[in-house]
Amino acid sequence: MSVGRDFEAVFGAPPQAQAQAPGRVNLLGEHTDYNEGFVLPIAIAQCTRVGLRRNGLARCRLHAQALRQTVEFTLAAAPAAHFATYVFGCLVEAGEAGFDIPPLDIHVASDVPMGVGLSSSAALEVATLRALCALLDLPLDDVQIARLGQRAEVRHAGVRCGLMDQMASSLAGTDRALLLDTRSLARREVPLPPHSAILVLDSGEPRTLAASGYNERRAQCEQAAQLLGVNSLRDVPDAEIAQGLPDPLRQRVRHVLTENARVLQAADCANPQDFGALMNASHASLRDDYAVSTPAVDRLVSLLQAHPDVYGARLTGAGFGGACVALCRDGAPTAIARAVLAGYAASGGAGRVLVPPMAAGA
Ligand code: GLA
Repeated sequence: MSVGRDFEAVFGAPPQAQAQAPGRVNLLGEHTDYNEGFVLPIAIAQCTRVGLRRNGLARCRLHAQALRQTVEFTLAAAPAAHFATYVFGCLVEAGEAGFDIPPLDIHVASDVPMGVGLSSSAALEVATLRALCALLDLPLDDVQIARLGQRAEVRHAGVRCGLMDQMASSLAGTDRALLLDTRSLARREVPLPPHSAILVLDSGEPRTLAASGYNERRAQCEQAAQLLGVNSLRDVPDAEIAQGLPDPLRQRVRHVLTENARVLQAADCANPQDFGALMNASHASLRDDYAVSTPAVDRLVSLLQAHPDVYGARLTGAGFGGACVALCRDGAPTAIARAVLAGYAASGGAGRVLVPPMAAGA
C-alpha cells in the first residue's frame, strides 16, 4: 500500500505533504564524529517515509505502520512510546527554531532495519523534518535539517550522538560515500573502490547497552580532551601525547586518532584491497581500544574477513551488537552472505542480510 493510501486508511483523509529519507551504513570513521573528526558513511536503499496533514485538533496523532500503533501527544509533554519521541523531538526543535507547528496527523512507514546501527532514527528525523518543510514551506537546507534532527535525538531521545547519521541521511547518496569533516562540515563525495560492493549483515545480537555505553565512551573522550588541555580530540596531533593518560582513556584516544587517519587514507584509496585493510584495522581498533565490539560481532567479522571475496570487514555504527559491513568483490555479496551466514549459524549465531536489500533471506 502506498503511504498516501495508508495515511488515508488511518486518518480518513490524504496527506498534505510527504517526504522520505534513507538509512546509512558507515564505511569508516566510527566514534569520531563527536570528537570533531572524519567519517565516511553512504546511504542505503532502505528509507523512512513520513506523511503529514494539519488535523485541526488540539493534539498530534502519530501512526507507525510497522507497529500498527497510533499515539497522541501535544508538544508540551513527551509521549511515552519510544518511537514517538524522535518525531516529537523534531516538532519541538522546529518550534524552538521559531516555526509555528500546528497539530498534525503523522504517518510513518519504514523499511530501514531498526536497532542494528543503520540509523533508522536519523532516517525518521530527517524524513519528518523534510515533510514538515514541505507542508509548512520552512526555509531549512539539508545541513540545518541534519542539525535539528541531531538536537531532537540528543535532547529528546537521550543519546548524545554526533552529527554523522543525520548528515548522511540528509546529504549522502547510495552510489558514493560522503567524506565529512564533522568539525568544519566540509565534505566531498567518494566513489567506492573499483569493482567493489557493500554487504551488511546483522549479527542478530541486540544492542542492549548501546545508549549507556555510547554516552560513556563520549564522556571518556571529553575527559581525555580535558586532561590533554584541548577542546576536542581532533586537536591532539599524535597518539604519543596521550601516553601519560590513565587506562582506558589512552586507548580511547588512540582509537579516535588512528580512525581519523584511516578515513583520510581510505578516501584516497585507489584499490579495494587497501580500503579493506583499513576496515579490518578499524575493527581491531574498535574491539581492542574502544571496546565496543562483542564476541558474536567479532565472530561474524572474522568469518567475513576470512572469505576470499571480501576485501575487509568491520562492525558498523555505535557497536555493542548490531550490524557488520564488508567491502566485497563486485557481484559476490549474495554468495558471500550465504557462506558466511552458514558458518555463523554453525557457531550458534542467527544473522541475516541487511544490504543489499534484495539479498535479504539469502
Ligand atoms: C551512532 C551515533 C553517531 C556516531 C556513531 C558511531 O550512530 O548516532 O553520531 O557517533 O554512533 O560512529
